[in-house]
Amino acid sequence: MTLKILTLFPEMFTNFFNTSIIKRALDKDLFKVEVIDLRQYSHDKHHHVDDTPYGGGKGMVIKVDIVKEAIDANKSKNTKILLTSPRGYKYNQQKAMALAKEEEILIICGHYEGFDERVLNYVDEEISIGDYVLTGGELAAMVISDSIIRLQKGVLAEGSYEDDSFQTGLLEYPQYTRPQVFDGVEVPKVLQNGNHSEIRKYRLYESLKLTYLRRPDLLENYNLTKEEKEMLEKIKKEALQNK
Ligand SMILES: C[S@@+](CC[C@H](N)C(=O)[O-])C[C@H]1O[C@@H](n2cnc3c(N)ncnc32)[C@H](O)[C@@H]1O
Repeated sequence: MTLKILTLFPEMFTNFFNTSIIKRALDKDLFKVEVIDLRQYSHDKHHHVDDTPYGGGKGMVIKVDIVKEAIDANKSKNTKILLTSPRGYKYNQQKAMALAKEEEILIICGHYEGFDERVLNYVDEEISIGDYVLTGGELAAMVISDSIIRLQKGVLAEGSYEDDSFQTGLLEYPQYTRPQVFDGVEVPKVLQNGNHSEIRKYRLYESLKLTYLRRPDLLENYNLTKEEKEMLEKIKKEALQNK
C-alpha cells in the first residue's frame, strides 16, 4: 500500500511517520508514504494556493485548479482519492478495514475555510473523522493513515487487532496486567485462573455490557448469537436493577 498525503504543512508528518509502530512498519517496507507539498502546484511566486470566497465572507478558500493539478500529478489508475472535511461521511473501523485493502490512497488535507466545492469533482470520498472542526486536515490524515497502517499485514503481531473495539462490532473487554492488586483493587479472579473457556465467556460478557451501556447504537447492526442474546438479557436486567 502506498499512502500519499497532499498538504500545505508537510512538516507536521515528520514525527508521525518517524515514531513507534508506524516507523517500524515504514522501515520494514510494509507500506510506502509520500508527503506532498500542495504549494509546489501554486501558480505565483508567493506560492498562494487560496483566494477570497465568492459571495463574500471571512476566510480563504483553497483553489480548485491547484488541487486538480496536484491530484493529476500524483494519482495513478488505482489511486483512491480522499478529501478530509468535517462535512464528509463519518470515519469508522469498517471504513478503515475497507481502505486498508486499497493499493494506493491519496489524502488531501484542507486548511483555512476549506476547498472550492468543485474539488469534489476530482475526489472519490469526503471523510470526516468526527463532529468537530479542526484547523486543518493534517490530524485527520494522520488518524486515517494510522488506522489503515496498523491493519497492514505484518505491522502488528498476528491476532493483535481482531478483538479490538469495533473490529468485532463490539467495544473491547477490560484488560489488566500486573500488579495483581493495586490500591485495593484486584484483577478479576476469572482472569487469574487460566480457564480459557471461562475467560472467553467473561470477556464476551464484559464486551457486550460495555457496548450496551456506552454504545447501544453498535448493537443495532450486530448479529447476536444465542449465547450473546442470553448474556444481553442478563445485562439488561442487571442494568435495570442498578438504576
Ligand atoms: C477549518 S476546516 C474548514 C471547515 C469548513 N469551513 C466547514 O465548516 O465545513 C479546515 C480543514 O480542516 C480539515 N478538517 C476540519 N475538521 C475536520 C474533520 N472533523 N474531519 C476531517 N477533516 C477536518 C478539512 O481538511 C478542512 O478543509
